[in-house]
Amino acid sequence: MSLFISIELSVRSIFRKAILGLAMLTVACQATGNKLSVHHLGDGQSLLKITEQKKYILLPIEEASPESRLSMVCDNEVIQTLNVRLAVTKTDYYVPIDLSGHRNISFNFHSVPDDAICWQDLKLSDNYDTVNKESYRPAYHFSPSYGWMNDPNGMVYKNGEFHLFYQYNPYGSMWGNMHWGHAVSKNMIDWEELPVALAPDGLGSIFSGSCVVDKKNTAGFGEGAIIAFYTSAGERQVQSMAYSQDNGRTFKKYERNPIITSTVRDFRDPKVFWHPETDRWIMVIAASQEMQFYSSPNLREWTYESSFGHGEGNHDGVWECPDLIRLPIDGSTQKKWVLLCNINPGGPFGGSATQYFIGEFNGKKFINDFPATTKWMDWGKDHYATVTWSNAPDNRNIAIGWMSNWQYANQVPTTQYRSANTLPRDLSLYKVGKELYIRCAPAPEVTALRKKGLSEKNIRVNNSYNISSFLPQDKKTYEIALSIKNESAEIIGWSLFNSKGEEIKMYYNLIDQTFSMDRTKSGITGFSEEFPTVTVAPIYKDAELNLRIFVDNSSIEVFGNEGCFVMTNLVFPTEPYTRLSFYAKGGSYEISSLNVYPIK
Ligand code: FRU
Repeated sequence: MSLFISIELSVRSIFRKAILGLAMLTVACQATGNKLSVHHLGDGQSLLKITEQKKYILLPIEEASPESRLSMVCDNEVIQTLNVRLAVTKTDYYVPIDLSGHRNISFNFHSVPDDAICWQDLKLSDNYDTVNKESYRPAYHFSPSYGWMNDPNGMVYKNGEFHLFYQYNPYGSMWGNMHWGHAVSKNMIDWEELPVALAPDGLGSIFSGSCVVDKKNTAGFGEGAIIAFYTSAGERQVQSMAYSQDNGRTFKKYERNPIITSTVRDFRDPKVFWHPETDRWIMVIAASQEMQFYSSPNLREWTYESSFGHGEGNHDGVWECPDLIRLPIDGSTQKKWVLLCNINPGGPFGGSATQYFIGEFNGKKFINDFPATTKWMDWGKDHYATVTWSNAPDNRNIAIGWMSNWQYANQVPTTQYRSANTLPRDLSLYKVGKELYIRCAPAPEVTALRKKGLSEKNIRVNNSYNISSFLPQDKKTYEIALSIKNESAEIIGWSLFNSKGEEIKMYYNLIDQTFSMDRTKSGITGFSEEFPTVTVAPIYKDAELNLRIFVDNSSIEVFGNEGCFVMTNLVFPTEPYTRLSFYAKGGSYEISSLNVYPIK
C-alpha cells in the first residue's frame, strides 16, 4: 500500500503548525482562502490538488536543484508539462503558473523529495510581482521582466511595430521549457512585453526561428498574415510553422506540422525570406555544421536546394541561427549576399560567436567570395544568435543578438531574469583592399537616446589625463563618443573605473593594429572561469580613431569607426563606472572630441 499523506497548507507559518494537528491546519487554511493539498505518493512522486482557485500558483525555485518534471492536469486531461528546479533546501525566487481559464486542477510532480522546502513554500496568489529587483538589469537594452531568455527569434516589422520574439523560459531563470516570448516596440529601445506567443506542444519545445509577413497570401492564411517558422524540439528536431491573423497578438499552429524533417540531429533555427528573382520563399536551416537551403512557393511545401559549409569558415562547434541577407556596399550601388552563421563553441575568445560569409546566392546555392578568411561580426564574448528584422522599414537591415555566451549564460549574477539583447545595429558592407566586411553601426534610434552631458575638445595626452566625474550624480548609463588623432603613441588607452578599483581597460595597439577590452578586473567575474577575458579586434583604419562606447548596467558595447568593428562584453561592477582615465605609451595623442551622453 502506498504511503498517503494529505496536508492542506497555505503559508509557511501555517505549514509548520501542521505537525501539531491536521484539523487545526485545515481551519487556518480555509481562513486565508488558499487551498492546496499535497499528497506524497512515494518514490519522489507527489500530487498537488488545488481546491480553491486563485489566478496563479507560485512555484518556489532553487537554482541549484535538479530539474523535475511536472504536469498540470485539468478535468483529467494533461494540459501542459514542464521542468522546474523546485526548491529543496531554500527558495531563491518564485515563478508563476497562470491557472486562469482552468478548473479542477492538479499537478503531478516527479523526483521531488517529500521533505523538500517547496512543499512548505508553494503559494496560491492573485498577483505575481514583476517589479524590477535587479541592479544589473539594463536600462536601454531589452530583457524579460522575469525568466530566462536566449536567442532573439522571429523579428518582424509590421504596421509601425517592431516585433521581437525570443527563446524564453517562463518557469525559471535558467535555460529550459523553450517558449517564444514576445515584445513589441516602436523604436527597438522601449519594449512592451506581450503574452507568450508559442508554447511547447506534442512535437516538442519551441526553438529558434523567424517570421515573415505574407503580403501576397501565398500560404492561404490571409493577406498580411505574420507567419512564424520555428524548430519543434522533441526527441528530434523538425521544422514547424504557425500563423497570426491579428498582427502577432495570437498565433495558431499549422495543423500539419512538421513541414520539414531530416535525419540530422542538430537541425534547427529556420530563417525565411522572399527571393524576388525566383519568385519563391527561401528557408535557411542550420544542420549540424552546414547551412541548408530550401525553397517554396507557398510557405507550406518546401524543396531542398543545396547545402553550404563544407570546408568553409570555422567548424569548431555547431552551426546555429542562420540568416541570409543582401547588404549594400558603402559608397557604391552594388549589393552582396551575406550569410550569418552563429557557431557554438568556436568563437574567437571561446564559446559562442557570429561568423559570416559574403558572396552570391541565386535562389538555389550560396557561393562564398572570400573563402580564405574567417570573418567575425563582433569581437566581444557576448554577441550570439544574431539575426535581422524581416520586412524592416526603408530597406534597412537591422540586427540584434543575444548578449551572452553559452559558456556562462546560466551562471551570470542575476536572479529575477537572465540575459538581455544587444543594441540594434544597422548593417552594410565596407571594403578594405579587396576584402569586404560587415559594418555594424548603432541604429539611429540608439543615437536618439542621447541626453546632454560633458563635452570637451582638444585634450592632449602625453602620459595620462583623468576625468574624475563625467556624469550627473543620478546617472549611471551612458554613451561616450570619442575622436582621437594619434601623434606618436604606440598605445592609446583608457580605463573606465569606480571607487572600488573595478575597471574596464580599453586600448588601441597601433603597432599590432588592434583594439582590446580587458574585463578581468571589471567587478564580479568569479562565477565562471571563462568570464574574465581580454577580447581583441583587428582594426583596419587608423587615420582618425572614432569610437562610440555604450555603457549599460551590465554591458559595454564599443563601435569603432562607425561600426567597422564592434565589441560587446558583459560586465558586473559592484558600483557603476563613473571615472575615466586616459593614458599614452610610446608617444602622445590628441582627443579631438570627447562627449559623454547620459542615457535614460
Ligand atoms: C542557439 C540555440 C539554437 C536553438 C536555441 C534553443 O543559442 O542553441 O540553435 O534553437 O538556442 O534555445
